[in-house]
Amino acid sequence: MSLLIKNGTVVTAVDQYVGDVLIEGERIATIGSSLSMPVDRTIDASGKLVLPGGIDVHTHLDMPFGGTTSADDFESGTIAAAFGGTTSIVDFAIQYKGQTLHHAWETWMHKAEGKAAIDYGFHMIITDLTDQVELEMDALVGQGVTSFKLFMAYPGVFMLDDASIFKALLRTGKNGGTICMHAENGGVIDVLVKKALAEGKTAPKYHALTRPVRAEAEATHRAIALAEMADVPIYIVHLSAAEALEMVTEARDRGLPAYAETCPQYLFLSDDNYEEPGFDGAKYVMSPPLRPAATQDRLWRGLAFNDLQAISTDHCPFCMKEQKSMGHGDFSKIPNGAPGIETRMSLVYDGGVRTGRISLNRFVELTSTSPAKIFGLFPRKGTIAPGSDADIVIFDPEKTTTLSVHSLHMKVDYNPYEGRQVTGVTETVISRGRVVIDNGRFVGRAGAGAFIKRSARW
Ligand code: URP
Ligand code: ZN
Ligand code: ZN
Ligand code: ZN
Repeated sequence: MSLLIKNGTVVTAVDQYVGDVLIEGERIATIGSSLSMPVDRTIDASGKLVLPGGIDVHTHLDMPFGGTTSADDFESGTIAAAFGGTTSIVDFAIQYKGQTLHHAWETWMHKAEGKAAIDYGFHMIITDLTDQVELEMDALVGQGVTSFKLFMAYPGVFMLDDASIFKALLRTGKNGGTICMHAENGGVIDVLVKKALAEGKTAPKYHALTRPVRAEAEATHRAIALAEMADVPIYIVHLSAAEALEMVTEARDRGLPAYAETCPQYLFLSDDNYEEPGFDGAKYVMSPPLRPAATQDRLWRGLAFNDLQAISTDHCPFCMKEQKSMGHGDFSKIPNGAPGIETRMSLVYDGGVRTGRISLNRFVELTSTSPAKIFGLFPRKGTIAPGSDADIVIFDPEKTTTLSVHSLHMKVDYNPYEGRQVTGVTETVISRGRVVIDNGRFVGRAGAGAFIKRSARW
């Protein structure tokens, strides 16, 4: 199968030019101008952007959490991702206490196999760090699972103590893996949650009020300090608070390899959403929670100046009707998370590039190139270059759409951005040389996505 994309504006993290991209099989073969050769299909991309496929390094598909399971599985979730211009995800496999990492990896490989419509990798969530598990970390890095998520929150479920965190960090200094940290002080939050419930404060908004910004900032600072003592890089996931960003900025100013991502929900929504009528605040119950609206400018500045290196989604959808409703009368029983895998590229293009907050190159860098580099996918993915996987998005920068649960493809009964107009829409998507979205229609296949073996830091 060969494919020629003609006359589009090719954008990478560093370039922008009108050109033609020739795809042969799964790879990009040639980039040039006025290319003309016999091919199976030619796509005219005049007036369109030709972007590296989006890479979302933070998704939770088919994830058991809070007594239920996230509403998108690897089929519906990856199809929705493709509609939104994302061609690779890195999801999370969970080691439950007493289990091996191998078992967790195998379990999540089975969840994805035959279902994923785009390529996928896994981070490994470690909840029980024994000597045996440390050995398994080395083995997993060799098998392409080169990053590990640790939690400083959710005591009794996911939370690790500082000694275990430090040991895991040290281990990545030896095996070349990367630690991703959920940085919130779980002990403090637990006390605040119990106190609020005892006082009869049960509404969704108390989820946010019991997770103060300082609990995130303290944990972010501690995570970076532990990584500094272990002399290894660290990646802070779903950073939401300006106070936490200050910790990352301070560390980076000292030259430390501290990295962080934020997510669209923290750029476009705010704690005002918890005031929506009735139980609707539950739509936004996620951890960390939405922050004051003034935070958004601080995060955009962090993205522009490279104190934040990636925008991922933390896609973790739960339906209002059967799932979020478990927390009626007790906010702590509302499953944490929100949908976002499909809306990331349009939201960030519209709210970031069109407003001048970030450049078009920075948009590509934040949504594709930089996560690919941090997580061992580059240069196979994350750019448009000869030899790279043909993961390409043809994006219409002028088309406007209204985000709505009625037209989006995520398997969840609400959308946090309902009614929001965005300009900048994914039109056609190519995943390893195969067209999966053709002018807004899904033409891919569940199971066509492949497990991506990622590289270690060396
Ligand atoms: O609320 C969230 N973020 N749910 C997903 C789990 C996590 O901590 O990332
Ligand atoms: Zn096995
Ligand atoms: Zn987390
Ligand atoms: Zn998450």
